Amino acid sequence: MAILINNKDKTYTLTTKNTMYQMKVDELNVLVHTYYGAKMEYMDLHYYSKCNSQPSFSPNPADSIGVCNQYTYGEASQELSCAGIGDFRLNAIGVRNSDGSFGVEPRFVGAEVIKGKYSIKGLPSFYGDEADTLVITLKDKVHDIYFHLYYGVFEEYDLITRSVTVENKTDKSIKLEKALTLTLDLPRGSYDMLNFHGRHMRERMVERTGIKHSQITIESMRGGSSHMQNPFVVVCDKDANEEYGSAWGIALVYSGNFKIAAEKDQWEKTRVVAGINPENFSYEILPNGTFECPEAAMVYSNEGFGNMSRCFHKAIRNNLCRGKYKNTQRPVLINNWEGTYFNFNADKLVSMAHEAKKLGVELFVMDDGWFGKRDDDHSGLGDWTPNEKKLQGTLKNLAERINAEGMKFGIWFEPECISEDSDLYRAHPDYAFKMPDRDPQVSRNQYVLDYSRKEVVDNIYNQLTTVLDSANISYVKWDFNRHISDLYSVALPPEKQGEVYHRYMLGLYDLLERITTKYPDILFESCSGGGGRFDCGMLYYMPQVWTSDNSDAIDRLKIQYGTSFAYPVSTMGAHVSVCPNHQNARVTPLKTRGNVAYFGTYGLELDVTKMTDEEKEEIKRQIVEFKKHYELIQHGEYYRLISPFASDESMYCVWETAKEDGSEALVCAVRYDTDACTPPFYVRVKGLLPNRFYRINGSEKTYLGAALMNLGLELEYDFFTYPSRLYHITLA
Ligand code: DGJ
Repeated sequence: MAILINNKDKTYTLTTKNTMYQMKVDELNVLVHTYYGAKMEYMDLHYYSKCNSQPSFSPNPADSIGVCNQYTYGEASQELSCAGIGDFRLNAIGVRNSDGSFGVEPRFVGAEVIKGKYSIKGLPSFYGDEADTLVITLKDKVHDIYFHLYYGVFEEYDLITRSVTVENKTDKSIKLEKALTLTLDLPRGSYDMLNFHGRHMRERMVERTGIKHSQITIESMRGGSSHMQNPFVVVCDKDANEEYGSAWGIALVYSGNFKIAAEKDQWEKTRVVAGINPENFSYEILPNGTFECPEAAMVYSNEGFGNMSRCFHKAIRNNLCRGKYKNTQRPVLINNWEGTYFNFNADKLVSMAHEAKKLGVELFVMDDGWFGKRDDDHSGLGDWTPNEKKLQGTLKNLAERINAEGMKFGIWFEPECISEDSDLYRAHPDYAFKMPDRDPQVSRNQYVLDYSRKEVVDNIYNQLTTVLDSANISYVKWDFNRHISDLYSVALPPEKQGEVYHRYMLGLYDLLERITTKYPDILFESCSGGGGRFDCGMLYYMPQVWTSDNSDAIDRLKIQYGTSFAYPVSTMGAHVSVCPNHQNARVTPLKTRGNVAYFGTYGLELDVTKMTDEEKEEIKRQIVEFKKHYELIQHGEYYRLISPFASDESMYCVWETAKEDGSEALVCAVRYDTDACTPPFYVRVKGLLPNRFYRINGSEKTYLGAALMNLGLELEYDFFTYPSRLYHITLA
């Protein structure tokens, strides 16, 4: 059983295959955290975390006097740390009581185990009957304000999720002014944090920072999780690496404003908090009302980052992504964006589909520019009616023409935005976020729709379903090309404007739920100017994300490497595009572009009618090769072997995917820089059977698994720029 309740010790212990998480109700009836780390036999671990210091200017709770004089909220490892009561560290929850006072003191009320995984009203979350749920209820010492802490335990993947519901059972409204989901106090030690920062076309760069006695904050206030930071961090031992050391991965299942912060306190203890960003957030909870915090998902690994990532990969693939395509083979697609941009008509698209079909492509995606008045990005968003002049007929006609070429048909939407030059804006200017008496900021010539209003969401729902019902559409790309500024909803009174960011997310998730449920056969791909919303929230609705608007194979090495810390290959949209590359003018071999795109969803994004015969043959070969390795790539165990961020002289980025039983592996090596007189280079392969022999790409010569893992696989030398090779390792 994954959840152990020990009534004598008043402990609550969650165990997974390799990890353990423990909480205890202490002498003041406070729920404290005692441990999260490697699995061990049961013991009450409170000896380690109880308060035993001088208070050092941390106040004592009134009821501690005479009972446990050293007790301070400022040192206790509270499982739900709250503001206002003397815990001056990072904390999770801030409640403004109806009398205006700011603070609550949650104390233990009860606990319950539920079979299966809890879900959260209106919010995405991991799911699965194989998981168990522990619900612990706390109540403020004074008021009838309850905190329900939900823990989901996925034994197999070493994944523990958590969410918090705040319930107001008083007869007056209260205000949540801070609603972070997670407080996590780590065992004493010195840690680093990995975060995944970037910008448009350069997402999820890996950065490593020491956690010291000041706060590190990873956050977004952009209304989307953003390119600039990702709602995922790893806290790890100073010397942790891919295979060694303690690593705690924390992912938020949320796509809006977030904050993940860490600090070492005066007692040398490290605390991490994660959840909704408290800036410009306050949420009224009416009497008998509740507020649900988004989910946080955690994996602990004592075998470094690699194992942690593989746990997240499996959990995200199997217990977060949903729908028909979560585990079935996805079609190889061609998207016309980099091939034509806005400059196309139906004949052009059909000619591209015709050529692409001959190469083995299965799905044609018509990107931006097919609707309203939309020949550039200055107008048309909000008017989801096909431009029949450009499409030379109805959308249905075009889908039929593409289908007649033997291809499925897909389409692009940007449902959350609106152009000033659109019929929707002319009819409903109030649908866009803007502050009273202030001209709103424009970004890519567009505004953001106020999804906190149901009528706005419904309007877009009706428009989208009209389009989706009108033609044979097999795929939807859901884009979002600006961040939110000028936040203000005309539908809410001044004192409730702090709710708008989160209500926007609830509106978006509601729309996504309705659309993806209504069209279970459509493959949905999320996008936000590439990977600006690559997070567990969006993956609940759409199993793949356009990883970046940067399609250059060499830049993609870092982008896909950083993305792989949390997210599996099956979620990473990756396309072969033309050279010189449109984003950075780099010229790379077509083979290298293919090899990099294999470790994603693999597709094309170019004008295939302009390719040479030789290039077409290469694409044909790639599609066959990609499909041959599809299962291994998408569902294998992923290993990062050599980092593209490494400063050693290898100049290689190398990664691998291996079958769980060690019978087969595929290694991809890309050389991202060049050098003269290069020495031979070997890379240590992972996940093979040490005592079995293997062939490399069907070679005569066989290699012992242990040799490939301990000495390494020799990378062949190619004398040109940006070479790459695949090494298919099979049992001899
Ligand atoms: C941004 C996306 O990331 C691109 O792939 C493309 O769909 C454009 N938007 C279209 O405007």
